[in-house]
Amino acid sequence: MKQYKHSAGIIVIIILVIVTLSQCLSVPEQKTVAAADMRGAGYIGSAACANCHQDIHDSYLATAHRHTSASPSPATIKGSFEPGKNSFHYRPNVKVVMEQRSNGLFQVAYMDEVEKQAIPFGVVMGSGRKAQTYLYWYDDNVFQLPISYSVWARNWVNSPSYPADKVRFDRLINIGCFECHGSYIERKGTQEEGNRLVDYFDKTKVIYGMDCERCHGPAAAHVDFHTTHPQEKQAQHIAIYKKLSRQQQADLCAQCHSGGHTSRNSIFYFKPGDSLAQYFSSPIITGGNVSQLDVHGNQYQLLSGSECFIKSNVLTCTSCHNTHVSERENMAVFSQRCMSCHSSIAHSFDKQLPANAITSNCIDCHMPALPSRAITMKKEDKAEADPNLVRTHLIKVYPEATLQFIRDNK
Ligand code: HEC
Ligand code: HEC
Ligand code: HEC
Ligand code: HEC
Ligand code: HEC
Ligand code: HEC
Ligand code: HEC
Repeated sequence: MKQYKHSAGIIVIIILVIVTLSQCLSVPEQKTVAAADMRGAGYIGSAACANCHQDIHDSYLATAHRHTSASPSPATIKGSFEPGKNSFHYRPNVKVVMEQRSNGLFQVAYMDEVEKQAIPFGVVMGSGRKAQTYLYWYDDNVFQLPISYSVWARNWVNSPSYPADKVRFDRLINIGCFECHGSYIERKGTQEEGNRLVDYFDKTKVIYGMDCERCHGPAAAHVDFHTTHPQEKQAQHIAIYKKLSRQQQADLCAQCHSGGHTSRNSIFYFKPGDSLAQYFSSPIITGGNVSQLDVHGNQYQLLSGSECFIKSNVLTCTSCHNTHVSERENMAVFSQRCMSCHSSIAHSFDKQLPANAITSNCIDCHMPALPSRAITMKKEDKAEADPNLVRTHLIKVYPEATLQFIRDNK
């Protein structure tokens, strides 16, 4: 995606002078402003939905979307602050230690056991399914912290796009991370500085995580109407998903699940029914030639290149995903959804496997988890970064994965 691909370009040339940096850092922002209306009069915030859609409201709280960005706290940060488990060494005498101090949570750089720089965690990016990256505030700009957390490694790791042998704090972050990982942040302005664009934010105006209106669009009028017309059972003043075209349905998810783009307008204002062309100035490659795309972030394009998508005129993301509940890795449930179209399927190896091994897991053979080249994270004791595994959405026959599956399930 854009941020990852161009990261080399945005790495600041001026290495921020360590001492000046720690002197002018402001204290981490702990306040979160009430969600209502920050985005404008049409919006109302998720709390208002609970009155009438209690089940959806409650089950949604357990999803990755809901927690995909957060204010930092020991609960939202998945890595450990416990001594012995809280450091990452770049070299034997250079390390960063994650410290919980009386005035907040910090990443602290040490050289020869002497503290060089202590920077507070400012923003948590990622729910912690697989990984989290952390950002910090420097006046009105946001930068990436040097250390991330990998669930897979169960440890602190070097942040993606930073060099593996030095502590760096200089990767500037633009609005993109927030647009895909949050519901809102107020951008005060953008300036061209040298060869890059720098976003300035109002850090008191941010809505972390994806809320209901991030997918359903502004819903204040819907709430008003149904509050004053409790007898009305037909949804009013809200987009009816089933009435959208297949392309509009797919675009709702593709605004964030089709990788990086050059944008025309902020996707914070994407509403169901809108088309991606209103937001992106670069076209999205779909259909035939998608097999070279990275498995990370490109679910829409990969799916569009699959026979299931091409030959059926109904398949979209919601044919398999119910985004109001967490169904992660529930292979039996997903396989049921495959069988809603492939009800009787005979395989050449049917006799080699117990029948329920096949019917309860179509996924490992046809959508295997493949390494992403886009996000890699290096553990301190490894020379090379480990790739992150992501389920491919190019649904087809994978002979290697099949052999593996037969070996594991015989
Ligand atoms: C005062 C009651 C009330 C409140 C509050 C309310 N809704 Fe609804 N909503 C309804 C009713 C009634 C329907 C129609 C029946 C149904 O689909 O459940 C509906 C339907 C919907 C639909 C279905 C559209 C479709 O595709 O059929 C969506 C989406 C929706 N509401 C979103 C929201 C969101 C988001 C919020 C919070 C911002 C919210 N609602 C708050 C009463 C309410
Ligand atoms: C505003 C951007 C955005 C939109 C819109 C969006 N997603 Fe996501 N989605 C994300 C991000 C970011 C993640 C990673 C969440 C995390 O931090 O773990 C994600 C994760 C997921 C996951 C993995 C969840 C898990 O628990 O493993 C699924 C499945 C998914 N999205 C499906 C969808 C579908 C289907 C739609 C459309 C109905 C959709 N998304 C719309 C940004 C978005
Ligand atoms: C175009 C939308 C988009 C942008 C921009 C984006 N992400 Fe993501 N990010 C996603 C999606 C979608 C996923 C999950 C699906 C996947 O990995 O394919 C994800 C996954 C992640 C994860 C792993 C989450 C988890 O819980 O496992 C982290 C961490 C992350 N992104 C951080 C960032 C950071 C930091 C930035 C800004 C530099 C950023 N992302 C920019 C869409 C985006
Ligand atoms: C990731 C995007 C996404 C988010 C976030 C989201 N929804 Fe939905 N919602 C959808 C989609 C897509 C559908 C249509 C599902 C279908 O018909 O297959 C839907 C359908 C609905 C419906 C009507 C159909 C039903 O399933 O009952 C209601 C009501 C609703 N959503 C309310 C909410 C509320 C309340 C929240 C927040 C707690 C929320 N949604 C968050 C994507 C989302
Ligand atoms: C909305 C219906 C639909 C759903 C849901 C669906 N498919 Fe398909 N799939 C199709 C159609 C249509 C084709 C075209 C060939 C055919 O008619 O069988 C196809 C083709 C395939 C092929 C052959 C691919 C090739 O390259 O020749 C595989 C494998 C497959 N699907 C697996 C799956 C799996 C696994 C799932 C669940 C994760 C799934 N499908 C879900 C409709 C669907
Ligand atoms: C044919 C069924 C099917 C369709 C259609 C489908 N998915 Fe998935 N998706 C799956 C399965 C199965 C998984 C793996 C199980 C899991 O991770 O919970 C998955 C996983 C994911 C993940 C997590 C990937 C990872 O490994 O981190 C994301 C994100 C996602 N889907 C988004 C989407 C989006 C966006 C669309 C529409 C463009 C979509 N999916 C369409 C079946 C489907
Ligand atoms: C052990 C791995 C494995 C599992 C599990 C598996 N498949 Fe397959 N599938 C294959 C292979 C390999 C082929 C190629 C044809 C063959 O060997 O029978 C295939 C072929 C297909 C085809 C294309 C058939 C055709 O004639 O073009 C479809 C559709 C399909 N599988 C769907 C499914 C569904 C749905 C499930 C779950 C109920 C499933 N598969 C489970 C490996 C698997």
